[in-house]
Amino acid sequence: MNKKRKISPSILSADFSALGAAVRQVEEGGADWIHVDVMDGHFVPNITIGPLVVKAVRKVTKLPLDVHLMIEKPERYIDVFAAAGSDYLTVQAEACVHLHRVLQSIRQAGMKAGVALNPHTPLCAIEEVLGDLDLILIMSVNPGFGGQQFIPASLDKLKRLRALLGERGLTHIDIEVDGGVKLDNARKIADAGAEVLVAGSAIFDTPDPSFAVQEMKKVLA
Ligand code: DX5
Ligand code: ZN
Repeated sequence: MNKKRKISPSILSADFSALGAAVRQVEEGGADWIHVDVMDGHFVPNITIGPLVVKAVRKVTKLPLDVHLMIEKPERYIDVFAAAGSDYLTVQAEACVHLHRVLQSIRQAGMKAGVALNPHTPLCAIEEVLGDLDLILIMSVNPGFGGQQFIPASLDKLKRLRALLGERGLTHIDIEVDGGVKLDNARKIADAGAEVLVAGSAIFDTPDPSFAVQEMKKVLA
C-alpha cells in the first residue's frame, strides 16, 4: 500500500523544438516516468503526436515511457507503439468496444496495460477487467488540452478506487491521475490514493522544469 509516489511529467507542455533537452531536464530533476499524450482529433478535439515522437523520446531517456492514447480504435496502434519503445500503454475505456481484448493485446505486445477513465466514466466500467490491468488512470480534467483546472470530484473517485483495489487485494495496480496537478494540490491528490502524478503545465510552463520536478517530489516525500 505504501508505494513510493511517482511523477510523470507530460511532454505535451514541453518545447517541441527542443524535446530531447526538455526530457533530460525533467530526468535530472528526478522524474520517474515520461508521460506522452497521443491525440487524434476524433476522440478529443486536439491533434498532438504519434509513434515517431515516442521513438525519438525513447532514444534520449531510459525512464519508462507512459503513453496515454486519447484516440479512437486504439487497437489499431498497439504494435506500433510497442515497437516505438512504449513501456506503459494506456487506452481510454470510452474508446474501446472490446476493452478486455485490447488490454490482453497490450500485454501480449510486451507492455504494461493501462486504462484511463474520463471524469464522467464510473469506476464500475472497469470492474470486470481489474485482473487485466497494471495501471488505472483517473482523468481529473476532460482530456484534450494541457493547462486545465483539476476537477475536485476526482478526489473522491480516487479514494473509492483505492478502497476497491484494497478490498480486491489488487494493490499492485498503480493508480495514476492526470490533469490540473499542481504543486499546491499534489499532496491532497496523493493522499486520496494516487501513486503516479502526471503534470504538464506545472512542470514545463516554468522557467526551470528540473526544479519544478524536484519541488513536486518534495511535496510528495
Ligand atoms: C490532457 C492530457 C494531460 C495533460 C495534462 O488531456 O492527458 O496529460 O498534458 O496537463 P496539465 O498538467 O497541464 O493539466
Ligand atoms: Zn495524459
